[in-house]
Amino acid sequence: MKKYIELVNNYIDELSKKPFFPEIFKEALFYTPKSGGKRIRALLVILSGEMFYANIVQTLPIAAAIELLHAYSLIHDDLPVMDNDDFRRGKPANHKVFGEDLALLAGDGLNTFTFNVISNAENIEPSKRIEIIKWLSNNAGIGGMVVGQVVDILSAREKLKGFSPKRLVNFIHKHKTAKLIQASVVCGAICGNPSKNDLEKIAKYGLFSGVAFQIIDDCLDVVGDEKKLGKKKVDEINNTLTYPKVYGLKRSFEMADRLKDMAIDQIKEFKKSQPLIDIAKLIVERDR
Ligand code: IPE
Ligand code: IPE
Ligand code: MG
Ligand code: MG
Ligand code: MG
Repeated sequence: MKKYIELVNNYIDELSKKPFFPEIFKEALFYTPKSGGKRIRALLVILSGEMFYANIVQTLPIAAAIELLHAYSLIHDDLPVMDNDDFRRGKPANHKVFGEDLALLAGDGLNTFTFNVISNAENIEPSKRIEIIKWLSNNAGIGGMVVGQVVDILSAREKLKGFSPKRLVNFIHKHKTAKLIQASVVCGAICGNPSKNDLEKIAKYGLFSGVAFQIIDDCLDVVGDEKKLGKKKVDEINNTLTYPKVYGLKRSFEMADRLKDMAIDQIKEFKKSQPLIDIAKLIVERDR
């Protein structure tokens, strides 16, 4: 996995080397994508691709592009109008270094650049590129991450009356986090040769492990170590609707565990599923 993370980092480095004006905007654009992170989504693209016999030359641009999109979501998530978090990946958040104006625009820039990189991925057939763009634009946007963030923010500000916290928190986690994780594995798979049925299975794996991922992120916001997490624990300050808040810590960990098992069940019959099984386990067992 280390080898793959290095390839992704190098790919992002290369993308950042083109001449660009003004220099300060280029710095804002690549500051967050280049400051590390676990690269879980990139790994999911590559490993899901491998499970369906795609090669790394095909999946690498998609893996890097999804990390750019993820970085955009983090930059915007940290802004004072959103979670107001000053730290990300162990460093000052993008807006603390470049200001809210440039951070907002860096996020916008990364969002569209993602789709430009995918459009240019010439080792993938054009029709597959369109399929990838279709999934990612839906799952990262109004059918996924963006609407998840909307409901996250509105719930925290108690502006959604008449919906139960259980229903809301499930909607939030499925959309703000799981849909992008789902798009990662599906887009990786599309680079290879999955059947329609295979795609349904890998999509379910993505959704289940994605919800588990956010449940654990919430739990770590209670029991985790800020230094290790590289970000401030702000959920309680922000009144964010989280699994521990709705279900308690113990039950939240149990639910994440169960979702991990459900995710693994979807893919265990595939020949090269072991790395994705390991990632599902890693997602719920990290830092515990
Ligand atoms: C943070 O994602 C945002 C969530 C959806 C919880 P990660 O925990 O994957 O962040 P990095 O990429 O490792 O920094
Ligand atoms: C992140 O949820 C969701 C995104 C789409 C970025 P959080 O707000 O819990 O993520 P962290 O804890 O700031 O990484
Ligand atoms: Mg948030
Ligand atoms: Mg946040
Ligand atoms: Mg969090």
